[in-house]
Parts: sequence; C-alpha cells; structure tokens
Amino acid sequence: MKYKMMSRLMASAALVCAGASAQAADVEVLHWWTAGGEAAALNVLKEDLSTKGVGWEDMPVAGGGGEAAQTTLKARVASGNPPTAAQLLGMQVREWAQEGALGDLTQAAEAGGWADVVPGALKDFAMYDGKWVAVPVNIHRPNWLWINAAIFEENGLTPPTTWEEFNTVAQTLKDKGITPLAHGGQPWQDATVFDDVVLGIGGADFYRKAIIEADMDALGSDTMVQVFDQMRTLRGFVDDNFSGRDWNLATAMVLNGEAAMQLMGDWAKGEIIRADMVPGEDILCVAAPGTEGSYLFNTDFFAAFDVSDDNRDAQMELASAVMSPSFQEAFNLVKGSIPARTDVSPEKFDACGQKAMKDIVEAEGNGSLLGSLAHGHGQTSAVQRAIFDVVTEHFNSDMSSQDAVEELQIAVESAAM
Ligand code: BGC
Repeated sequence: MKYKMMSRLMASAALVCAGASAQAADVEVLHWWTAGGEAAALNVLKEDLSTKGVGWEDMPVAGGGGEAAQTTLKARVASGNPPTAAQLLGMQVREWAQEGALGDLTQAAEAGGWADVVPGALKDFAMYDGKWVAVPVNIHRPNWLWINAAIFEENGLTPPTTWEEFNTVAQTLKDKGITPLAHGGQPWQDATVFDDVVLGIGGADFYRKAIIEADMDALGSDTMVQVFDQMRTLRGFVDDNFSGRDWNLATAMVLNGEAAMQLMGDWAKGEIIRADMVPGEDILCVAAPGTEGSYLFNTDFFAAFDVSDDNRDAQMELASAVMSPSFQEAFNLVKGSIPARTDVSPEKFDACGQKAMKDIVEAEGNGSLLGSLAHGHGQTSAVQRAIFDVVTEHFNSDMSSQDAVEELQIAVESAAM
C-alpha cells in the first residue's frame, strides 16, 4: 500500500515537473500598471504575447510611480525568486544591472536591429557593459499641463505659458470657486510638479546642473529659492483633500470638471482616452509653464530578471514582441506615451501624441531632452529619494524657501556620498 502511494506521489510529481517545463513559455511580469488606462495598455501586450504562445503571469503592485513595486521586487530578488521580467525606470535598470541581477537580451536586440531605432538617451539606460539588459516599452513626457477646455472657455482663459501666467489664471479660477489644480499629495507626484517648476523657472541648463549633475551651487541658488516659492504658491491652488490622493483620481477631477488643470505625465492621456474624451480638444495638452521646447522624459523598461535557462526563451520572446513596430504603435496609442523607436509613423496618434513626437526631436536637437527626476531618469535612487523628502516636507509644512534650499543641499550631499 505504502509503495503504491509512493509511486502515485512520484508519478504526480513527475507530471508537475512536466507541467512546469511545458509552461516554460510563460512570463511572470512585475509591474505597477493598475490604473484604468495603464491596465488597458497592458492588455495590448498580454494579447500580443498570447498570439505568440507566451503565457502571462501577472504580478501587479499598485502604486503610481512604482515605489511599492520596487519594494516588492527587492524582496523577491532577495529571496532568490525574481520574476521573469519587471517594469523599471532607467536608473533602476542601471542599479539592478550593477547588482548583477539582470540577464542579457543582446541576442534579441541584434536580431531585431534595436541599435538602429532606439534613441540614444534610452540606449544609455537599456544597455550595461555593452549588453542589452532591458527593453524600452515607451517614452513618457512628465512635463505636461492638462487643461479642462470647457472650464477655460467658460471663464475666458487661455493656457498659461509661464509660471507667472499660470498664477494669474489659477487665481482667477480660485476667486470663482473653481479648484485650479488637481493634485495628489504623494511624494512622487509632488516631485513631478517640482520637476516642472525647476525646468520652467530655471530652464534646461539649470535643470541639468541642479538635478542631473547635483551641482551644489545650483541647488543652493536664488533660482532654487524661486522654485520653492512657486511650489508654495501652488500649494494654495490645490483643494483641501489632496493629501494621499492617487494620480488617476486627480486626473478624473479634471475630466469631470471638478478642477481645471493637472501637472502630470502623459499616462494621464490613457485616462482621457478611456473616458471617451478627446486629448487636445476636450482636455488640452500644453507643455508645463516655461517648458515649451524642452522635454523631460521617462521610459518604462522591461528588464530581464530570472536568468535561469528555462525562462530565457520566454524572455527573448517578450523582448522581441515589445520592440516590434506594430506593438509599439498599438501599445502607446493606449498608454498615452510615444513609441520607443524612431521609425513609427505619427499618423495614428492624437494631437498630443503628435506634438510629443515633434517636440522630442526638437529637444534632442537643442540639448534639452532631459531625464525626469520624479520618474527615475534624473538621479540615482538614493539622491532621488533625498530630493523627494525635502520637496514633500516643504509642500506640507510652512518651511521657508530658504530653509528648503539649505535642506536640499544637505540631503543631496549626504545621499550622493
Ligand atoms: C510610469 C508610467 C506610469 C506612471 C503612473 C510612471 O513612472 O513611467 O508608466 O503610468 O508612473 O503610475
């Protein structure tokens, strides 16, 4: 009896093993695309992969900007059980590659001729030590101002192009009892606004010095004092319930007319499309005040994690599928971003997408295509966190701009060590 049971057990164990290898073409993907527009875009990928016989094991970790996803990913890697692939922003790709945690997608990259079509700014993050360790899914632009067109029209307002104009327009709306700015008080959202203000007030060279180079003089400058002054002014234009609000709920406020504007990346466009509204008509998209001509960017990469032989084929399939021109078009039309390859036609994109595709070329040409701090392309994770802390503390207290600038210098200096 015992023997029979043993052999039955062994037989079912063998079946489980066979099952496991039959599923070798599954990919387990860790990501933070859980808002409506994000999930819709992810479905484009899941469906594309299923036509290629690659199964999808979903590992969603909710939380805009991806901080919670990073925490989960660290725990998974530390316990020796990494996912096949994970959504990462540029600096995170680099840091995981430095840890030796990433695999090698070079074979897929060479077969697909990625080097010829992926913009240099993205290649810098996707490649490590001469190898492709991640595949870029999109290019997002965080420095957009989204405007409810009907509210502006009813109140005879025109989209602001400078922070001064923004303040005037916002005050007019506030005086009429309309919430000028939809905002979610979470560190990454505060930092998204901060990015826009640094770039809009200081210009591209100042952003490069202060953020990308973490230059102490720039961080402690009068310009940075003005940046914090503007952050304080913005604090007066948000509603009382902003604290902790998710970004997509803030976007919804603009869509349903509860607020007039939002400073947010073009993942907000995914929500606009899902609400059956027309980007560029119902909801206007203009560069954040003072940033026309410059382009902050962030890219979502899928980085190859689990480097076991079993999963290598599935990883390559995922990477090749993501880089195909048809997928890049289909996915980015839904996600709100633009393709991560230069040879996709703008034809099917809406007015905001077409503007993004034109603006990025212009910005690259004039040296103002810059990595977003808030979205993992401006600084190491340690310095990024240090800046987030100061920006959020300032936004939620009565700290003076001068004190904020001093704290910023101290925080960045110690994080950069
Ligand atoms: C990601 C986007 C995402 C957004 C909000 C950004 O950092 O790049 O893909 O939609 O965060 O979660």
